[in-house]
Amino acid sequence: MRPNFICMVASLLGNAVFATRLYAASYAGFVTSLSLTKTNGSYELSTLSKATDCGSSPSWLMVDSENSILYCLDEGITTPNGSVTTFKTNQNGTLTAIQRLKTLSGPVMSAMYSAPQVSTRQFLAVAHYSASAVTTYSVDPTQGIFNHSQTFVYEMTGPGPVPSRQDAPHPHGVIVDPTGRFVLVPDLGADLVRIFEVNQLTGHLEQVEPLVVTQGSGPRHGVFWTPKAAKNAKSTPTDVYFYLIQELSNSLSGFRVTYSEDGISFAKVFEGSTYGNEASPTGSKAAEISISPENNHVVVSNRLDSTFGPNSDSFAVFSCADSSGKFFKDVSFLGFHRAYGSSPRHFNINGDLDMVAVALEKSQKVAVTRWNKHTGGPGILLAEKQIDGDIPAVVWDL
Ligand SMILES: *[C@@H]1O[C@H](CO)[C@@H](O)[C@H](O)[C@H]1NC(C)=O
Ligand SMILES: *[C@@H]1O[C@H](CO)[C@@H](O)[C@H](O)[C@H]1NC(C)=O
Ligand SMILES: *[C@@H]1O[C@H](CO)[C@@H](O)[C@H](O)[C@H]1NC(C)=O
Ligand SMILES: *[C@@H]1O[C@H](CO)[C@@H](O)[C@H](O)[C@H]1NC(C)=O
Repeated sequence: MRPNFICMVASLLGNAVFATRLYAASYAGFVTSLSLTKTNGSYELSTLSKATDCGSSPSWLMVDSENSILYCLDEGITTPNGSVTTFKTNQNGTLTAIQRLKTLSGPVMSAMYSAPQVSTRQFLAVAHYSASAVTTYSVDPTQGIFNHSQTFVYEMTGPGPVPSRQDAPHPHGVIVDPTGRFVLVPDLGADLVRIFEVNQLTGHLEQVEPLVVTQGSGPRHGVFWTPKAAKNAKSTPTDVYFYLIQELSNSLSGFRVTYSEDGISFAKVFEGSTYGNEASPTGSKAAEISISPENNHVVVSNRLDSTFGPNSDSFAVFSCADSSGKFFKDVSFLGFHRAYGSSPRHFNINGDLDMVAVALEKSQKVAVTRWNKHTGGPGILLAEKQIDGDIPAVVWDL
């Protein structure tokens, strides 16, 4: 949090005790800076500024709070190309564009990784849905400037079991493993998780054997779990699991991960529906996945399921560890929680604030809910804000 900013808000509103910042992407062609304040016990989301420099279809955001840099992907839905843009995040809530680079079309998710031998650079890996590609960039993280580095383009010999969505490879996510040595890219079109090893000397990605998943499942995003104590350990954690959300089958898969001299390998320990024992509602599609702050649950978002009534979608919560978050436990479906709108494409749990920011794409709004420690799932609605355009992503800046 930014002390100066808090003072400013406090002096303007008299008795505000709390203020923090979020950024939301909108397919209407802008990124909104939002301020969440608490005054007299009630929360409010207000717009600080709008930036149009991230192109026509901002789809994904990443905040580097330490360096005050925001990374924005532009999916380029209505243009031949997509783009990557960096912004300086100013204290007054405005965003100053630093650099914008044209890319292959359809960038939808990115992640930063590093190479120990290249200490002054970080590396950005980007999944391109429509261009069937993965690209990488070398980044100066303090300045927010970057160069294109690698491009991998994929092909398939024929369509997958769900031809309407699996006409071609569609890389959809980017996840860095807990050792920082591997980058995983779920490919919705090819029913694969593509795996890259990070070259420790150059930061280049080198392809290794992919993880083959259930045909027609449509892998989208994923998350790693390690025991709580292992989070900051430098050594290779011994207890590692990978959870994958599959959009086309509305399922969650869990894999036990092992490392060897040959690399990384996966053994499936779980596959189950994001609706528990119920059938998936027609037209629903699972979207985002995260580990709970207590480290004992997997949280996923369900889009267009209307579990809580018309245009009122859900989160599904699974247990995956004991209550201390230290030991793996057989995965099981625990139940649904309200998303407070339609199509929760992305969400961001803030364990320090005990809050969840939700990008409700079709409701065209951002919601902030309480993180309920007792249920280990998203809780009551604290504030919401309508924004022009479909909202694919929202992130906290702390
Ligand atoms: C907060 O509550 C006090 C006492 O009820 C009231 O005087 C004040 O106007 C309120 N402030 C705001 C910003 O609503
Ligand atoms: C916000 O801060 C930036 C950077 O300090 C400055 O360039 C800009 O003029 C400010 N804008 C407003 C509206 O205060
Ligand atoms: C822009 O898109 C075209 C068509 O797909 C592609 O050939 C070109 O390489 C893209 N430009 C960049 C900078 O990626
Ligand atoms: C980009 O490339 C230029 C020219 O090779 C190099 O001087 C610069 O350090 C590179 N920047 C990054 C962030 O890698």
